[in-house]
Amino acid sequence: MEEYKKRVFSGIQPTGGFTLGNYLGALRQWDTLQNEYDCIYSVVDLHSLTVRQDPATLRRQIRESAAMLLACGVDPDRSILFIQGDVHQHAELSWLLSCYTQFGELSRMTQFKDKSSKHPENVNGGLFTYPVLMAADILLYQTNLVPIGADQKQHLELARNIAIRFNGIYGDVFTVPEGFFPKVAARVMSLQDPTSKMSKSDENQNAKVMLTDDGDAIIRKFRRAVTDSGNEVRAAEDKPGVTNLMSIYSGVTGRSFDEIEREFDGKGYGEFKSAVGEAVRDALAPIQERYKENLADKDMLNDVLKTGAERASILAARTLRKVRRKIGLD
Ligand code: TYM
Repeated sequence: MEEYKKRVFSGIQPTGGFTLGNYLGALRQWDTLQNEYDCIYSVVDLHSLTVRQDPATLRRQIRESAAMLLACGVDPDRSILFIQGDVHQHAELSWLLSCYTQFGELSRMTQFKDKSSKHPENVNGGLFTYPVLMAADILLYQTNLVPIGADQKQHLELARNIAIRFNGIYGDVFTVPEGFFPKVAARVMSLQDPTSKMSKSDENQNAKVMLTDDGDAIIRKFRRAVTDSGNEVRAAEDKPGVTNLMSIYSGVTGRSFDEIEREFDGKGYGEFKSAVGEAVRDALAPIQERYKENLADKDMLNDVLKTGAERASILAARTLRKVRRKIGLD
């Protein structure tokens, strides 16, 4: 890996499988950015613990996630892929940074407000300090660019603010990261309620497409997708359902909104929805094929994750040493 390349870092939670939103909002970019940048990608298992997890299921999902990331194009010969919990510096830097983060800042995080109001029975400290751990993930690697979906923008802003604040006190310790958002499909919406985000935790299976859904299920979900009044395939504010489907179609085919409007000119929603379903099915088929192969190859997975954690630790230790010295711990 050459030193002069800019660095990319991103992470994804392992629990509950990956959705089409994860893919279009983030993972697709994880793949293409490898051509230009020095990339580090992580399965952020520690972040998943804000919700109670069954140990055996968690253990399985961590491996499945790594297998899926490889299937989506993460290339361990060019990039580092590792499990967050295998590199202890994340938790350590998270504590240090939490002492430079205000209660008020964390209270304003919309994801915290959403999740704590949806699950009042388990508003734990981890849910509150979650964005600090995310800041630690990013800042440990002196990251320049963070490919994420729009829902993570506020967390990235916080990471930037923490870095700027820390640098203001101690001099240039952290690189201040920038977000990298896809031009289309930065926020994929639910197929059943296009005013809310497509979320893996949605109980309505028809609202979300999982990367492991079989072709028939994908087609069926798109046929059932909620559309808007009228029958024209056109992106507009008062057409959130159709606009969401157009973003998805654009995301998987690379066609622009203009091209899509022309393609479906005079055709109804039915035909359009089938076409989106087929395009998604065809885009996911090769990923699903590779996923199965990767998951079956236990030695390969173990090897990739072990090497990844070793390489990540070296970089993480370098930053942590610097931070400890600046603070006065060493
Ligand atoms: P997570 O695991 O919820 O999601 C992983 C990535 O998928 C994106 N995403 C979406 N994009 C578009 N439309 C959607 N409906 C959609 N749903 C999810 C997310 O924006 C994200 O990029 N806190 C992070 C994980 C994390 C992280 C990090 C990310 C931990 N540390 C450091 C970047 C850098 C999270 O929970 O993402």
